Amino acid sequence: MLITGISGLLGNNLACYFRDKYEIVGLYNYHPVTIRGIRTEYCDISNHDSVWGIIREVDPSIIIHCASLTNVEECEQQKSITKDINVIATGNIVECTKNQDVKLIYISTDSVYDGTRGNFSEADKPNPLNYYGQTKFEGELEVAKKDNSLIFRTNIFGWNIQDKKSLGEWILGELEANRQINGFRDAFFSSIYTMEFARVIDIAVRMDLKGTYNCGTSDSCSKYEFAKKIAARFGFSKKLITPISIDDFGFKAKRGKKLTLNTAKIQKDIDYRLPTIDQSIESFYRDYKCRMPQDIKLEQKATEEISSHINYGRQCIDHNDIQAVVRTLRSERITQGPEVEEFENRLVEYCGAKYAVAVNSGTAALHLACLVSDIKEGDEVITSPNTFVASANCAVYCGAKPVFSDISLKTYNILPDEIGAKINNRTRAVVPVHFAGQSCEMDSVYNLVKKKEEEFSQKIMIIEDASHAMGSFFKGKKVGACSYADMTTMSFHPVKHITTGEGGAILTNNEQFYNKLRRLRNHGITKVPIEMFGDDVAYQPVTALNKSELNPWYYEQIDLGHNYRITDIQCALGLSQLKKLESFRNRRREIVDMYNQAFQGTAGLQVPYESEHCNTNFHLYVVLIDFVSIGISRAEVMKELERQGIYTQVHYIPVHTQPYFQKKYHTGWGDCPNAEQYYQNCLSLPLFPLMTDSDTKRVISAIKKVLV
Ligand SMILES: Cc1ncc(COP(=O)(O)O)c(C=O)c1O
Repeated sequence: MLITGISGLLGNNLACYFRDKYEIVGLYNYHPVTIRGIRTEYCDISNHDSVWGIIREVDPSIIIHCASLTNVEECEQQKSITKDINVIATGNIVECTKNQDVKLIYISTDSVYDGTRGNFSEADKPNPLNYYGQTKFEGELEVAKKDNSLIFRTNIFGWNIQDKKSLGEWILGELEANRQINGFRDAFFSSIYTMEFARVIDIAVRMDLKGTYNCGTSDSCSKYEFAKKIAARFGFSKKLITPISIDDFGFKAKRGKKLTLNTAKIQKDIDYRLPTIDQSIESFYRDYKCRMPQDIKLEQKATEEISSHINYGRQCIDHNDIQAVVRTLRSERITQGPEVEEFENRLVEYCGAKYAVAVNSGTAALHLACLVSDIKEGDEVITSPNTFVASANCAVYCGAKPVFSDISLKTYNILPDEIGAKINNRTRAVVPVHFAGQSCEMDSVYNLVKKKEEEFSQKIMIIEDASHAMGSFFKGKKVGACSYADMTTMSFHPVKHITTGEGGAILTNNEQFYNKLRRLRNHGITKVPIEMFGDDVAYQPVTALNKSELNPWYYEQIDLGHNYRITDIQCALGLSQLKKLESFRNRRREIVDMYNQAFQGTAGLQVPYESEHCNTNFHLYVVLIDFVSIGISRAEVMKELERQGIYTQVHYIPVHTQPYFQKKYHTGWGDCPNAEQYYQNCLSLPLFPLMTDSDTKRVISAIKKVLV
């Protein structure tokens, strides 16, 4: 049995109900959950490939599709996400099971009805009043395309695994805290306890029921009466509940008042008496007495403890990634096979350059780009001081001298004018680094380099270090397309936009560079006949027509290269990750927006600036904090956050101040004042796609607390 929305109230409760009867796989999106005896997996079901992968692997005989955005107000405000989850995801599940013998059960809602007169039967025409109801009805239409499917229109309450509370739990919590609450006297429903609903689903599955059914309690009441019934059963004073009209509450989304369900059809077809509201509340109470809420939350605690550590960045690996790697491990070739080539093809397709060469790290990518640029002793390579040491080391590996050019205090990227001042007749390359994901002003860099090439009558290569910037744009052009560069390098380290464990790539539009890069990642060895020297040993005549054929064992080393080969195992992971890059990008953007909004106007803290020329896929979220004026050091801030399980980082200690460079190249403090000033105040906050909204809020509130 596959259950979507396993972290939600119904998904979790169904898993508990069915776990002894079925082998269950539960899917969650942003809220990892642990449930005893059940395999839970992260899966973005709005992504067709992800759904396809999990269904192919699990091969379920029953799918209960509970995943849904259910907050009526949020649905009205966030229509595109609501559509993705309530409609597109449902369509994906239908599409991916269309030729399979799978029982699909879709959990819909009483909100598909308009609530004007109540006692709705399945024959009544749906007429949803709000976007939630509308998208759930559109989901029903998708499900109805599949034979043998079953749709339940319902309204439920129960014990939730998460802090988010269903109506019953919320009422109880407020009463326990002795708080006065309002109850709608003019909103009627037939809300059924989740475990009672589970029993109905159980019978329906066994009877192979098909079609659309209402499922709620056999009677109905107003929400005010419901609250009073809860108070009575749990022994609290009903005086705490005030009757009000739903019209007085100020909801933005329209809501029906009489959403009561006629449940005659299901009762007849499965020959089962549905509980009354009183009976449903009685079961809710009984499970409370048996410690069900504590038990399900206890199981969850273990997961929360794991996810309570929020690193500044981390990989996002799902089931499909694991399967892709496992498939390759079982295949004939685990290195330099079909996955490497396919990964390179997809990189080219995604980035828009002509060629890609995948290697085993971002550092290797930079080194090979420098080798292909023929950088050698006596040459100079200009790069940013605000980067990882690899952007400078690549020049050092070739015997060249790294030269550091200062950054903008707005974008923290290298300044084109500063580069201009550093170019001389020894300059062979410029390595602009797109820090934190935001592209450098590449048109200015390009124009300046062209001018200097003319001035010094020499070729100056532009090698973009885009380790942080996969999926970013500059002036509408994709980073990686090499629109302003000879080569662009990427890194696929776990904290980056996609990961291959370790890995990197070089993109280029130059065929000669491409051929040489391929050789250099493999010791400088070639098997391409036109690149070879030794004709006499390479070939032997094989036919009467005197045509020659390359000897089967033959290869030549024609350059000095390295073993920078990436494996098929890594590229299988990379390919699977690439499919999710856009959803990763969207999630990163959501988190950045949450941070920006929350920190706007916070004294002593500056949020990242985004140039109007850029559309950035943020790799890092760097804030500047005026540690001196808030009177607490960065180390103390980091330690305090760490105590709360929040791990921040500093990107970067200016490279020219590292002892190695100081000693070897006589660089030092004072060389790049902007980078040094930036370094005093910067702090990278956690940012990765698996971060939940509550993780993000936790970081926000911890930062705000530490600043006051
Ligand atoms: C800007 C930059 N360049 C290069 C690299 C090197 O990449 P890798 O760790 O894949 O070798 C990194 C890695 O963090 C980086 O951040």
